Amino acid sequence: MNKNKFVFLFIGFILFFIAVTNFMHMRLARSGMMFGNKVSQHPQRDITPSTIFVNAEASELLTKYISSHNLSCMQCHEINANKVGPAYVVVSQKYASQPDAIKLIQSHIANGYGAMPGGLANKEESYDLAKITLQLTNKFGK
Ligand code: HEC
Repeated sequence: MNKNKFVFLFIGFILFFIAVTNFMHMRLARSGMMFGNKVSQHPQRDITPSTIFVNAEASELLTKYISSHNLSCMQCHEINANKVGPAYVVVSQKYASQPDAIKLIQSHIANGYGAMPGGLANKEESYDLAKITLQLTNKFGK
């Protein structure tokens, strides 16, 4: 191999290296891994509610329950969209695989949670609301 060939090969390799690292940089930046923006105080806000399966029966039941009990929930919540508080389907999905989910959500509704004040629903109502909320993302209904 003569000297010229070696120089061309060397330059070629450098250019290839730059292209590859540029590409990786782009991918990383787009995925959000690079600037740590995957770390969120409210991870449930990062979920797009419209992509979550919603059980239509449970959705109707929840809306009816809230209005027939004259509860103020819908001032801050919607079933399928984030408002002041997270969409109910997002809450449902967040707790879907947690065994003690009903009791946990019940106590959050009854006693308040973060920016949500407590006392908006009594213990019994909070239990029913927690149960229906969990049914929202249950494909099998109950
Ligand atoms: C004044 C506004 C407001 C009202 C009224 C309100 N919420 Fe909330 N709710 C919020 C906010 C804000 C959050 C998010 C709290 C956080 O993550 O810090 C929240 C969170 C929740 C959560 C999720 C708790 C968790 O464990 O992640 C549930 C369930 C919930 N609300 C149900 C209800 C129900 C049922 C009612 C009616 C009885 C209600 N909310 C009324 C503002 C409200």
